[in-house]
Amino acid sequence: TVYLHQRKTTLTEHPAIQEAASRLREGALIAFPTETVYGLGADAQNDKAVQSIFRAKGRPGDNPLIVHIGEHSQLSDIAAHVPSVAEKLMDRFWPGPLTLVLPSAGTVSDNVTAGLPTVAVRLPEHPVARALLQVARCPVAAPSANRSGRPSPTEARHVLDDLDGRIDGVIDSGPTGYGLESTVLDVTGDEPALLRPGGITVEQLERVLGSVTTDPTLIDNATDRAPRSPGMKYRHYAPQGEMTLVGGSEGDMVRRIQALADQYRAEGLKVGILTTEERKEEYRADVVVACGSRKALPTVARGLYRALRQFDDAGVERVLAESFPECGWGRTIMNRLRKAAGGRVI
Ligand code: TXA
Ligand code: MG
Repeated sequence: TVYLHQRKTTLTEHPAIQEAASRLREGALIAFPTETVYGLGADAQNDKAVQSIFRAKGRPGDNPLIVHIGEHSQLSDIAAHVPSVAEKLMDRFWPGPLTLVLPSAGTVSDNVTAGLPTVAVRLPEHPVARALLQVARCPVAAPSANRSGRPSPTEARHVLDDLDGRIDGVIDSGPTGYGLESTVLDVTGDEPALLRPGGITVEQLERVLGSVTTDPTLIDNATDRAPRSPGMKYRHYAPQGEMTLVGGSEGDMVRRIQALADQYRAEGLKVGILTTEERKEEYRADVVVACGSRKALPTVARGLYRALRQFDDAGVERVLAESFPECGWGRTIMNRLRKAAGGRVI
C-alpha cells in the first residue's frame, strides 16, 4: 500500500506514481483511485496481465473491461474510428465519468473486449489516475477493484478487504468523489444507447444529444435478450445478507420497512436498514445506516457502497433499503440498489 495524502512533489514525479507505473508496464496488477471508484489496473496490451485481473476478481471471462487512457491522443490507437457524436461527448465530458463503447481497432488484448468487435474507453479526471496513466503511457484495462459481485471499492481499505494477497499493490489517496461507476454509453449504433447509468446523468447526456435510448436489458431483468453490456446480467454490488428494495410513497415505505424488519427480527435474523440522514431516527433494527441526504443525492451516491459494506462488517442477514426517485442521480442509485437486491423489489 502506498499513501498519497501528503504530497510534496508533482504527481507525475511522485515516487509512488513512478513505481506503480513501471510495475504496470511490467505486467503487475495495481489498484488506483479514480473519481468514481477504485479500479484494478493492468496493461491492456498484455494478455497475461489482463487474464490475471479476471483471476484476482473471480470475474466471468465474458464480461469485458474498460480501457483507461491518460491522454486524448491515445484514443486513435484503440478505436477503429470515432463517430462525430462521440467527439461531441468527449469535448463535453472528458476527462470524467463517461465511458464510450466504440468500434475496436483490435490493438488491446482480446481478453479486454471479451472477443467483442467494440471497446469501452474512458479518460478519468482523478489527478492520481491521470498521473498514473500519463506516466505508464500504455492503455490500462481496469474494472472496479472488488471481488466480483461485491460492492465496488470507494476506499483503498475496501480494495484490500477484497483483494489483499491477490494483487501487486494499491495507491491510496482517500475516498473517491462520485462513489458510483461511470456511465457507459454505446455510440456504435444509429443512436447512442445507455448501457449503464453512472456519474454523468441521462439529463446531462440529453442536453448534448437531444435524446438517449436506454438498452432494454438495463430497464428490467425480465427480458431474455442478452444484455449489450455483459456486466449488467450479473448480480452485483451486493451485500452478503439478502437485500430487499422497498418502494411506495414515503410514509408507506417507512411503515413497510419497519414491519418487515420486525418480522425478520422475530425470526431471529440480524436486520439492517439503509436510509438517509432524514429518517435515521425513525427505525428500529440491529444496524441502521444513514447514507447521505435525500436533499443532495450525490451524497447518497458517494456513501452507498461503503454503507453496503458496513452491513457485511456487522454480519447482517437481511437488509431493507429505501427507494429513491428515478431521475438524475436517483436513476443511478436505483440501478445499483436493484442489482444489489438481486431484483427483490417490493
Ligand atoms: O467508473 C468506472 O467505470 C470504473 C472505474 C474503475 O473506471 N470501472 C468499472 O469497470 O466500473 P467494471 O468492469 O466494473 O464495469 C465495466 C462495465 C461492465 O458492465 C461491462 O460489461 C461494460 O462496462 N463494458 C465493457 N466493455 C464493453 C463493451 N465493449 N461493450 C459493452 N459493454 C462493455
Ligand atoms: Mg464492477
